[in-house]
Amino acid sequence: MNKQPIAVFDSGLGGLTVLRALRGQLPQEDFFYFADTRFLPYGDRPEVFLKERGVLIAEALAKRGAKALVIACNTATAVAAEAIRAVSSLPIVALEPGVKPAAALTKTGVIGVLATTRTLASERFQRLVGNHANHHKVIAQACPGLAEAIETEGADSPQVAALLDIFVAPLATAGADIVVLGCTHYPWVAAAIAQRLPTGVHLLDTGEPVARQLARLLGAAGLLGGGRGNLTMATSGAPVSVIATVNRLFGEKIHVEHWEP
Ligand code: DGL
Repeated sequence: MNKQPIAVFDSGLGGLTVLRALRGQLPQEDFFYFADTRFLPYGDRPEVFLKERGVLIAEALAKRGAKALVIACNTATAVAAEAIRAVSSLPIVALEPGVKPAAALTKTGVIGVLATTRTLASERFQRLVGNHANHHKVIAQACPGLAEAIETEGADSPQVAALLDIFVAPLATAGADIVVLGCTHYPWVAAAIAQRLPTGVHLLDTGEPVARQLARLLGAAGLLGGGRGNLTMATSGAPVSVIATVNRLFGEKIHVEHWEP
């Protein structure tokens, strides 16, 4: 048992879709969620910037007293997870697109992946596809602007709808039967993505398996439990811009502070 919180971070509010799964499976843990909103979107930023930022955030979260770290951002994992692991002694779970489970599930042999430009351009993503989906056709569709539009315009906005029309169409015509949501912002618009795909296409996101993986790691390190389900949130941007979304998602009033790692 250990009373320290588990730290979770993303470029913004995408990681809240992961946090929801973590809190569901680990109710006896306290969480600290950091939204690096000042630097959203990560998906269009240079690799070297994201690496340095990721390491800085991980070190600051450890100093704040985190007992474990969840990188709830596929983009940050793609370019910074190795650098973070090299400097951190915390148990770390890093999200990446669910290409491996998709390869096991597909019947048509065609897998769609929606993710940021940076994630898809990363060596780590190329390796993931090479190792697990070599015999399948993988349609990797970059979605520039989508995470930002979800966050700033809202999941139901016309801007988001217009972007989805462009990005989802190639997957629908290619015959993908599994579409991997390779960015933690995209589960916010899962219904709108599903509407643009033929009936029966399966959308895959990694929140639940990540929560199971975190529980395993904490158990192995003797760090499981000890909290009370408390959630503290911080952003590098303006707290007021994230509070409404957070309250809507969790149905409870959560204080959001400004924090600079
Ligand atoms: N939510 C993030 C991801 O999973 C990044 C979105 C962004 O900031 O571009 O990739």
